Amino acid sequence: MQNKKERVLFAREDIAYRIREMGIEISEYYKGNEIVVISLLRGSFIFTSDLVREIKSPVEVDFMTTASYGDEEVSSGMVNILQDIRTDIKNRDVLIVDDIIDTGNTLSKVIEHLSKKQPKSIKICVMLDKPSRRKVDLQPDFSGFVIPDVFIVGYGLNYGNYYRNIPYIFTFE
Ligand code: IMP
Ligand code: MG
Repeated sequence: MQNKKERVLFAREDIAYRIREMGIEISEYYKGNEIVVISLLRGSFIFTSDLVREIKSPVEVDFMTTASYGDEEVSSGMVNILQDIRTDIKNRDVLIVDDIIDTGNTLSKVIEHLSKKQPKSIKICVMLDKPSRRKVDLQPDFSGFVIPDVFIVGYGLNYGNYYRNIPYIFTFE
């Protein structure tokens, strides 16, 4: 745990409001067609649970666990798939949901992995986008907030093993 002061970037209400908007955007995009939502654990579990409840299309939810080798704070570029999905996604519309896109290494590795299962489409949805840190050419199709290069915690995002349960998004000053 930290003794540093917190600076709140997005309050609980800001997040809820934005997710309702994203739900509308995603629902309009898929026009009532079924979606397989693939949530990347552990960071996106809270975002996913809020987001899917704002989507009007029929949704099947599955989970995948990825880990970057080494310290989670600095992406090493090496991404390991610790647990795969169980759903058959062949010819289906897949929406990958993650907490944050930083370098983009995680999502590009996940896309490469899921593409082999021959889905009809793959789109990316993230709560936060840190475009200044990108190392691969990848843009999210749906994103909640664009943020500068600061380390974020709360709302599913961790520092050490803590803070995922904090209901707002903040940084340490
Ligand atoms: P990427 O592979 O560099 O895009 O980063 C992916 C993962 O790194 C995210 O899913 C997070 O788990 C973690 N991450 C990146 N930036 C932050 C942050 O600011 N706070 C907490 N975790 C982060
Ligand atoms: Mg993550």
